[in-house]
Amino acid sequence: MLDIFRRKSFDELMAHTQEKKLTKALGAFDITLMGLGIIIGTGIFVLTGIGAANYAGPGLMLSFVLAAVTCAFVCLAYSELASFLPVSGSSYTYAYASLGEIFGWWVGWSLILEYSVGASAVAGGWSAYFVGILHSCGIDLPKALTTVPADGGIINLPAVVIVLLTTALLVIGVKESAHVNRILVYVKIGTIFVFLFLAAPHVEPMNWQPFLPYGFSGVAAGTAVLFFAYLGFDALSTAAEETKNPNRDMPIGIIAALTICTILYIAVCAAMTGVVPYTMLDTAAPASFVLEYIGMHLGSAIVGTGALCGLSTVVLGMLFAQSRALYAMSRDGLMPMSLYKVHRTYHTPYVIQIIIGGIVAVITGFTPIHIVAETCSAGTIFAFLCSCAGILILRRVYPDKPRGFRCPAVHVIAPLGFIFCAFVFTQLSSHTLILFGVWSLLGLIIYLVYGRRHSVLNK
Ligand code: ALA
Repeated sequence: MLDIFRRKSFDELMAHTQEKKLTKALGAFDITLMGLGIIIGTGIFVLTGIGAANYAGPGLMLSFVLAAVTCAFVCLAYSELASFLPVSGSSYTYAYASLGEIFGWWVGWSLILEYSVGASAVAGGWSAYFVGILHSCGIDLPKALTTVPADGGIINLPAVVIVLLTTALLVIGVKESAHVNRILVYVKIGTIFVFLFLAAPHVEPMNWQPFLPYGFSGVAAGTAVLFFAYLGFDALSTAAEETKNPNRDMPIGIIAALTICTILYIAVCAAMTGVVPYTMLDTAAPASFVLEYIGMHLGSAIVGTGALCGLSTVVLGMLFAQSRALYAMSRDGLMPMSLYKVHRTYHTPYVIQIIIGGIVAVITGFTPIHIVAETCSAGTIFAFLCSCAGILILRRVYPDKPRGFRCPAVHVIAPLGFIFCAFVFTQLSSHTLILFGVWSLLGLIIYLVYGRRHSVLNK
C-alpha cells in the first residue's frame, strides 16, 4: 500500500531535461509575456464587475491585494521549484517529487480542472465578446450557432473555432505560439492602458464610499471569486523544459508577470468603481460598460476588441499548460504512454495537444461550462497548497542541490502561502467544494485502477 507514496527522485526527474525532445526556445522576456498572456483575461475583463457589485463593492481592490499577497507567497515557492526542477509538469512534478505519487496524481488531476475546464470557460467568454462585437457592427450570428444546447442553441461555434485555431498553433510550434502570444499580449496591455486613460479623468471619489459595503467578509468572498484572475502564473513553470536558461529565466518571468498583473488589476478596479457606482457593475463586460456609461462608444469598442485578444491568449496558455502537464503524467505512466509522443518536425507533444483541443472544443461547444468554472480555482488552490508543502520537503530531502533561485525565508514564506491558500479555499462556495470533492474522488479511483499499476516507478 505504501507504494502510493513512492517519490520520483531528483536524478530521475533531471534525466528528462537531457532528453532534448522539446525545443529550448524561450527566454525570461518570453516567460513574462506568456505570464501576462495566460493570467490577464476573464478575471479583469469579466469578474471585476460581478465581484464589485455582488461581493465587495469598491473594497474589491482589497480583494485583489489579498489574492496578490497569497499568490506572491506561492509565486516565490514556484520560482524556486521551477528553477530546482526545470521539468515539464509544474505542480504535478513538484508534488510527485516531494509528497509522493498519489499526491502528484491528485495535483495533476486537479490541474485538469484548472487548465481544461478553465480553457473551456474562457473560450465561452471569448465567444460572448465576439458575438457582442459583431452585433455592434450590425452582424448577428444565429443563436443556434452561438449557444450551447442547455441554453437553447445547438453549438457554441465561435468558442469551438477559437479552441481549434489555438490548438493548431500550439501543434505547429512553441516559438510560433510565443510569437502570436507576444503580439496579442501587447494589444491586451495597450487596451488596458486605453481604458485607464479614458476612465481616470471621470473618477468620482464619492463612488468609493462606502468602501466596504459588505464588510471584511465581502472582501474575503470577493477574493475567492476573483482568484481566477490570478490563475495561470503556475502554468508558466510547465514551460521549464522549453526555456533556454530555466534557473534564471523562470523566476524572473514568474515574478515579473505577477507584479505587472497586480498593478494593472488594482488600477482597473479603482477606475471602474470610481467611475460607476459599484451597484451598477453587475455585467459580464464591465470595462466596455464603464466607457459606455461616460459616453465613449469608440473607446468601448476598442476595449471590447482588446478583451477578445486578451481572452485568446488565456485559451492559448491554458491549452499549452494542459498538454505539458499531461505530457509529464504520461511519461511517468500515470496516463497512457501512447500520449507521450513528440512531433518530428515541430517538436511539440502533438498527440496530447490534439486530444486536449478536441475535448476542450467539445466541452465549450456543447456544455454550459460556466456553471462549474469556479472549480478551476479550487483545483488550483489545492495545487498551490501542495507546492507550499512540497518546497519545504524538498529543501529537507535535497538540501545541497543547486537552486537557481532560492525562496527567501522559506520557512516563513511557504507556511504563510499555505495558510493564505487554505483561507481562500474555505471562502469558495459549498457547491464548488462539493464538485471538487467529487472530481477528486473520481481521480482517486482512476489512479487506483490504472495509474498505480502502470506507473513507471512500478517497473
Ligand atoms: N487568470 C485567467 C483569467 O483571468 C485564468 O482569465
